[in-house]
Amino acid sequence: MAIAIILHGGAGDWNTYDTGKAKDILEKAAYIGLKILKNNGSSLDAVEKSINHLENSGYFDAGLGSVTQNDGKIRMDAGIMDGSNLKCGAVAAIEDIKNPISVARKVMEKTSHCLIVSKFAAEFAVKNGFKTIKIKPKQLFKKHSSDTVGAIALDKKGNIAVGNSTGGVYGKMIPGRVGDSPIAGAGYYADAYAGAATTGIGESFIRTVMSKQAVDMAKEKPLKDAVRTALKIVRQKTGCNGGIIMLDKNGDYAAHHTTKAMPWVYKKG
Ligand code: GLY
Repeated sequence: MAIAIILHGGAGDWNTYDTGKAKDILEKAAYIGLKILKNNGSSLDAVEKSINHLENSGYFDAGLGSVTQNDGKIRMDAGIMDGSNLKCGAVAAIEDIKNPISVARKVMEKTSHCLIVSKFAAEFAVKNGFKTIKIKPKQLFKKHSSDTVGAIALDKKGNIAVGNSTGGVYGKMIPGRVGDSPIAGAGYYADAYAGAATTGIGESFIRTVMSKQAVDMAKEKPLKDAVRTALKIVRQKTGCNGGIIMLDKNGDYAAHHTTKAMPWVYKKG
């Protein structure tokens, strides 16, 4: 069985940012995931731990690097999905937690629910052993726009998992606004055949239910065509640009963006 992982660091302008540095961090995250997969770990573990590395880096709009909403507060979203059984877990508008992707996984594994929001998500995290932490806004993203981190992995059993973590899009965000990243089918989706994760203006991926659409398209056409068609639909229907990564059960992959940049990395074992 092939093992593989693909990660992205967010589609956007990346104007004054160093995409080279972003790629270095993504490479490290990919190796963390790949090592887990090589040691017979699950695709869920690979996705979670590689995203933890991105959340902890403070270099991306996720975890410690999250952007603020327009009341100056950081509220993060994350979602994770197991393609082998369609189980998913997510948190939205969670505050003061360093690794929202890990809380999302706990939602998936410890509850019968898919999504927990705001202070209830933070309370759930604390009850499950997560420490609270005051994240200092970096405001780096005022200078450029990027958005969200995402990962998809394929393990030795042939199972695909996908995850997203984000501080949301920077700009005029009404406090409590939630994007596509924690919405299964919109910002992320995986089944036994393929997985998809999106990045960009979340509303455009929610309106087009794009991750699910992309996974379904991948059953009919090559992945590289599925990702292009996906972003074409998003632009035609909503006027927005963005990015998407995909991985299938053979370890084949595709990545595409209609924004100026989207650092991403793929590794196959
Ligand atoms: N794509 C992340 C967001 O819109 O919040």
